[in-house]
Amino acid sequence: MKYGHILLAAGLLLAGCCAHNGQKDIEKQVKDALAQMTLNEKIALIHAQSKFTSPGVPRLGIPELKCDDGPHGLRPETLWDKWAAAGQTNDSCTAYPSLTCLAATWNKDIAYLYGRSVGEEARYRGKNVLLGPGVNICRTPLCGRNFEYMGEDPFLAGKLSAQYVKGVQSNKVAACVKHFAVNNQESHRTDGNSVVDDRTLYEIYLPAFKTAVQEGGAWSIMSSYNRYEEVFVSHSSHLLNDILKGEWGFDGAVISDWGATHDTEGAAHGGLDLEFGTHTDGLSQGLANAYDAYYMAEPYKAKILAGELSEDELNEKVRRALRLNFRTQADGYFGSFLSPEHFADCRRIGGEGIVLLRNEGVLPLKKDAKKIVVLGENAIRPMIVGGQSSSLKAQHEISPLQGIRNAFPEAEVVYERAYYSDQPTPGNYNYGQYDITEERPAAKLLADALAAVEGADYVIFVGGLNKNDNQDCEGRDRLSYELPYGQNEVIEAIAAVRPDLVYVNVSGSPVAMPFADKVAAILQAWYLGSETGNALADVLTGAVNPSGKLPVTFPVALEDGPIKTERQFPGFADEKGMWQTYYDEGIYVGYRWYDTKGVKPQFPFGYGLSYTSFEYGQAKLSSKKMGKSITVKVSIKNTGDVAGAEVAQLYISDLESSVDRPLKELKGFEKVYLQPGESKTVEFTFGRDALSFFDAEKHAWVAEPGKFKVLVGASSEDIRTEAEFTL
Ligand code: BGC
Repeated sequence: MKYGHILLAAGLLLAGCCAHNGQKDIEKQVKDALAQMTLNEKIALIHAQSKFTSPGVPRLGIPELKCDDGPHGLRPETLWDKWAAAGQTNDSCTAYPSLTCLAATWNKDIAYLYGRSVGEEARYRGKNVLLGPGVNICRTPLCGRNFEYMGEDPFLAGKLSAQYVKGVQSNKVAACVKHFAVNNQESHRTDGNSVVDDRTLYEIYLPAFKTAVQEGGAWSIMSSYNRYEEVFVSHSSHLLNDILKGEWGFDGAVISDWGATHDTEGAAHGGLDLEFGTHTDGLSQGLANAYDAYYMAEPYKAKILAGELSEDELNEKVRRALRLNFRTQADGYFGSFLSPEHFADCRRIGGEGIVLLRNEGVLPLKKDAKKIVVLGENAIRPMIVGGQSSSLKAQHEISPLQGIRNAFPEAEVVYERAYYSDQPTPGNYNYGQYDITEERPAAKLLADALAAVEGADYVIFVGGLNKNDNQDCEGRDRLSYELPYGQNEVIEAIAAVRPDLVYVNVSGSPVAMPFADKVAAILQAWYLGSETGNALADVLTGAVNPSGKLPVTFPVALEDGPIKTERQFPGFADEKGMWQTYYDEGIYVGYRWYDTKGVKPQFPFGYGLSYTSFEYGQAKLSSKKMGKSITVKVSIKNTGDVAGAEVAQLYISDLESSVDRPLKELKGFEKVYLQPGESKTVEFTFGRDALSFFDAEKHAWVAEPGKFKVLVGASSEDIRTEAEFTL
């Protein structure tokens, strides 16, 4: 019998079956298929046949495996073996907010909604694997890819990514959690070695991946480009076999980042299952039959035939590749694309993720404004394009300026650019959608802006970073923590005449804001995708009461942070010529550093304001002594006069520890929606794992007996109630 028939029968079975039986069927399919495959077919299955696909087993009716970026929407189709876009006209997608924005919602339901929605688009486009989410920890504000990740805290990133994964996979599309592991910078990302001690690895850099695997049930993982223990991660048996597949029981497939495979033996023994992206760009490197020359192609086969590599090891990779393939078949289910619901999802996620950082009474804007002046290049600059692999071709993108115009149809909305970036269009991944070149010199731009603000009811400056090289961009870290293009001076000059200025910061990473005290309001607006302007206007007008909280600390200056030396970032070439980056700060990343060392940031982790206010009651513990678990209840009341949502954050502090520990660590968060005057009780339950540190010598998590404190608050700095307990 041809395999397609088995597949069809299993597919029908699956439709009416519970997930457990579905998995059993898949295991049977895997076994049956493997038994029928030739060596050539096995080899073909574990490496790419094009930029984004691997071939399946045509003889047995097993379809191709189609991957696509990820993580903010469906990347436009590329040419068969080039990075360049294919130039199709049917692949404009819905662009979702960046993952930092998702993290800023601190909302698990929203993370599921995001995953489900983008997964529907992936399914519609016939993809098996969506290359995301990215869960690498924001170790430095300068990392070029922070915008694709979920902030600085492993607990927050883990819980949200697990929901994103579940949402995506509810469409029978695999999420591919990336980039595993210790890939926290773009400088030397393809050859650098990350030197991290075991405790730091387990406490900071692995947990988000572990949660995405164990709670999210991720079906695939992308191995990162960098080295760990001087071994390329795609060949790291320690990370892939021992930890991911061994300790965590991951049964999915490890997919190499594109071009992250470097030799056949390493790939065979290291735990890699599928090789993608190796030296094929229109075969420009001159290799005939380049896909056959992949490390996991003909060279692998030759070693098996010569008895140098075992077929058992190969079979295990084939099993995982087949499992991924079968898990992502969805007979009769087609997903959906560019639907009104998807745009509504974008607007909702964006509205919940925008963070109100400062408000001296100017926000929300009054509906009867007659004249609004909007300033800044980012008010008109498309942001869906750029940033490299996450760049999208979106069906539409509402600019901040357009969103404000939509919200104030009666008002005169005047636009002035005020500053100009030297890179009006992104050089890379520009699908030709726009051109915003500017002729006026900087002094004239500022003079025109200053002239325009006179007589305005409101002045809103939309600035920040963009997704060009050395900003929020894959492959190139930022060169400075400051805002580019002289924005500080421009903002200060405008604030001098309009102290009621509203500053909207568009970025995926923290930036310096030396003008923070001189403007009346600051909103952190990330990158918001297709519905950018509408989501922003919702918050500006109060149609949505801001409830986002920072998933990363915004330090005053970079030097305040834990990274002090070049050895820590970006690293250096050692005597062998190998690039080394030492994570000398250890576990003191983000608020764990600022808090513990008593360094005051500009805006702390977990911080965000609302148009209403919340009162926290006293934390009540189910027990003062840790048994199996403790439940903490705190009542929260909306004490203002508009409805709003608060994110209550639970931190735990170890008061008597034999090792150095951060002052406190996030171990729970709940978002609660409250009408004016309404109270609700939030509940957090945690066990011993929330009290533990990783003891590298014992290679075990250890919760030491002694006193602990629960702290519940509105940010890492703003603790409203606390209580002690013992273990
Ligand atoms: C990036 C990945 C991406 C892949 C495919 C790589 O360069 O690091 O995040 O998924 O390309 O585009």
